[in-house]
Amino acid sequence: MSVNSTGQGLRTDSPSVESGEPLVIITPSILTANFCELGKTMDEAIAAGIDWIHLDVMDGNWVGNRTITFGPALIRDIRQRVGPDIFVDCHLMVTNAEENWEQYVEAGVDIVIFHVEAVADIPTLIDNLHARGCQAGAVLNPATPASAILPYLENLDLVLVMSVVPGKGGQSFMAEMEGKTREFRAAIDTQIASGGRVTKLMIDGGIKAHNAAQVADWGIEVAVVGSGLINDKGTIAENLAEIQKALGA
Ligand code: DX5
Ligand code: ZN
Repeated sequence: MSVNSTGQGLRTDSPSVESGEPLVIITPSILTANFCELGKTMDEAIAAGIDWIHLDVMDGNWVGNRTITFGPALIRDIRQRVGPDIFVDCHLMVTNAEENWEQYVEAGVDIVIFHVEAVADIPTLIDNLHARGCQAGAVLNPATPASAILPYLENLDLVLVMSVVPGKGGQSFMAEMEGKTREFRAAIDTQIASGGRVTKLMIDGGIKAHNAAQVADWGIEVAVVGSGLINDKGTIAENLAEIQKALGA
């Protein structure tokens, strides 16, 4: 394992579903968390068995509702808190990922997930990330067709399908993302069958216990859960157990 400038171990893998484990990896979005309690929330999530953290970066420009969340400074502190073994992604909902991607690598993320609608030169961004030992993921809005990503699939470590319009947590799940998700599942399976990259397929937005099995059936391997995990209805462990039960764990 080589080490980048932040001294963090670089990962070329990501958590995967071991035999007997729930079908889908659940990763918490922290948008509904109390940011003054984040350290404790991270400890609680990891104690509950979470090994992947989803960090939503909004710059107040790119998302429709002009939300601003956080940036590399907070991500660096979260990495320090969770340690090197937890997989950390950043979901960049920003206008200038091609200018500031390096700050996220420096902050210690394992993968940068960029919006295809906001990047002009996708192959160069992917190559830049890989050259720094960081994984590259591409995400697309609900209205964006799979064809916007398929040409780059063989070099992507992850594809993220949005099942809400980006901008906040707690929105309703868009079941109409089924077709596009299955299209990616088929393309990734064909790629793997021909010895290509094992690209992960992820979904984000409105995922709860009542639709977790549905997206698993679509071929999703990783699901972001924000308001369904971090809420005042139950602890993270209780909410996670409910989702995993729905997934047949
Ligand atoms: C929305 C974010 C999502 C969101 C998920 O723009 O990218 O990660 O926080 O939250 P829920 O699960 O509540 O939809
Ligand atoms: Zn997200």
